[in-house]
Amino acid sequence: MSHNYTQELQATARAMVAEGKGLLAMDESTGTCNQRFEKVGIPTTEENRRAYRELILTTPHLSNFISGAILYDETIHQATSSGIPFIQVMKDLGMIPGIKLDKGAKSLAGHPEERVTEGLDGLRERITDYYSMGARFAKWRAVITIGENIPTQGCIEANAHALARYAALCQEGGLVPIVEPEVLIDGDHTLGRCYEVTETTIHEVFHQLYSQKVAFDQMILKPSMVTSGASSLIQASVDEVATATIHCLLNTVPAAVAGIAFLSGGQTIVQASAHLNAMHVLFEGQCPWPVTFSYARAIQQPALEHWKGESANVEGAQKLLYHRAMCNGAASRGLYQAEMEKEPVAVRS
Ligand code: 13P
Repeated sequence: MSHNYTQELQATARAMVAEGKGLLAMDESTGTCNQRFEKVGIPTTEENRRAYRELILTTPHLSNFISGAILYDETIHQATSSGIPFIQVMKDLGMIPGIKLDKGAKSLAGHPEERVTEGLDGLRERITDYYSMGARFAKWRAVITIGENIPTQGCIEANAHALARYAALCQEGGLVPIVEPEVLIDGDHTLGRCYEVTETTIHEVFHQLYSQKVAFDQMILKPSMVTSGASSLIQASVDEVATATIHCLLNTVPAAVAGIAFLSGGQTIVQASAHLNAMHVLFEGQCPWPVTFSYARAIQQPALEHWKGESANVEGAQKLLYHRAMCNGAASRGLYQAEMEKEPVAVRS
């Protein structure tokens, strides 16, 4: 008989979306991390990737607003410059370690311009290994592209099925699955088209999760928000995005789901905070699940640009990171205000 993790999974999932907190995605693959480094002129070495992740995880008081962080395989094996494993650092600071489990989105045969996320082979064994290292939750990202005649039902089904198989394996092995179906912001589509695609996608994801017997109270959904396409000439307002997004989720996400934690998906840092905040202001008391953030770029970007790979900039970069975590923590309670962007960074103890 395999171990029953039900209570532990429920407790972990609740802690991940604890009031006023969200998740920090820092699970960029080596390739993606290097691309982000190159854009700001940071040499793409393993030591720089390690130093950057150390900077993030040792940001003073980060756990005021960050319940857990998603790591990449390289990072979960790394340690601080003084030799403390990152997993230990996180546990000591009260942040739950998570791990990216997917192996990336690859071309989907027979479906030009569409992708399916791989990584199911050997996944049970990888989950066992990461659990024994101390990881307590995981992430798998599926990518849905909006374009002419896409997404196809075939692409949506293939991705939803893989997400469900991953989620079931995670729960069997003691990791809370973050189920991430990202509808990409790229394109000139309208908000209405994004709504339609997001609704169809999430509906299919829950159909597949149900078929694979995934326990909804032991998982987190990480959706994209319903927005206008990034290159659309008509950009929806903050309140329109918040309203469309919550309506879409209320129509598709079972009430038992432990929590919703959005990705930022290329929104600006201010948009990502403002949209999340507006959802809380406009729908206070109307959502059956906690609604928070699981951002990468919308938390990290100012810190990365400030750091530039220089140790003299670490403290300033950590202040910027803390500030974005604070703004998003406030947004997750509907307490974010534009003036907070001007405030000097106040580090609470
Ligand atoms: P962004 O917030 O930068 O979209 O990243 C979130 C994430 O984890 C994507 O998989």
